Amino acid sequence: MTAHRRLAPGARVVLASHNAGKVREVAALLAPYRIEVVSAGALGLPEPAETEDSFLGNARLKALAAARASGLPALADDSGFSVAALGGAPGVRTAEWAMQPDGTRDYAKAMARVAERAAASGNPDRRAWFTCALVLAWPDGHWEGFEGRVEGHWVWPPRGTRGFGYDPMFVPDGHTETFGEMDPARKHAISHRARAFAQLAAACLPPPAG
Ligand code: IMP
Repeated sequence: MTAHRRLAPGARVVLASHNAGKVREVAALLAPYRIEVVSAGALGLPEPAETEDSFLGNARLKALAAARASGLPALADDSGFSVAALGGAPGVRTAEWAMQPDGTRDYAKAMARVAERAAASGNPDRRAWFTCALVLAWPDGHWEGFEGRVEGHWVWPPRGTRGFGYDPMFVPDGHTETFGEMDPARKHAISHRARAFAQLAAACLPPPAG
């Protein structure tokens, strides 16, 4: 196995995401490490189409594009919500299920679609999970990828106004609150993104400050 490539303390990293909720969560996770974060949006980088059929494939595509365009190491996230009764859908199509004809995203409608289709499937299995793939890529094409998952079940109607996306319809195993009701710090401690991030930190980040 090839050795991991670790970022140096003080390194500048591009966050290759155009989703404000995700940028906020990943920036919060990076805060204790001595890494300077700049967003792809702030650099005016284009958002590549997510053409792969896996979370890791799409994160790799976004991270490599941002690293090559900026000349800096780039970190990309690809994530989504999966429902057992729907064979893992919406999965890599999670963001698309929220897309409206005018280009805006409507998560209330996307959640309703998930619940309606799961009910119509006749499958009583309520299991659901979030997956997060994180890829750190360098301008020379080197990349490293990590995947995290949080398992639970879906509820209807949605509950809570915290978080973003599909948070209000997901209850993680061992909890009674949805991600939409939960204190953000608690969500950050157990989320799919936190789990992928822990692996990334162990392999590629400098030791946390302090
Ligand atoms: P993408 O990674 O930009 O392709 O989109 C991920 C999709 O999954 C978006 O629709 C997000 O709202 C949703 N998603 C990802 N992570 C979370 C989460 O932590 N909570 C709620 N929704 C999420």
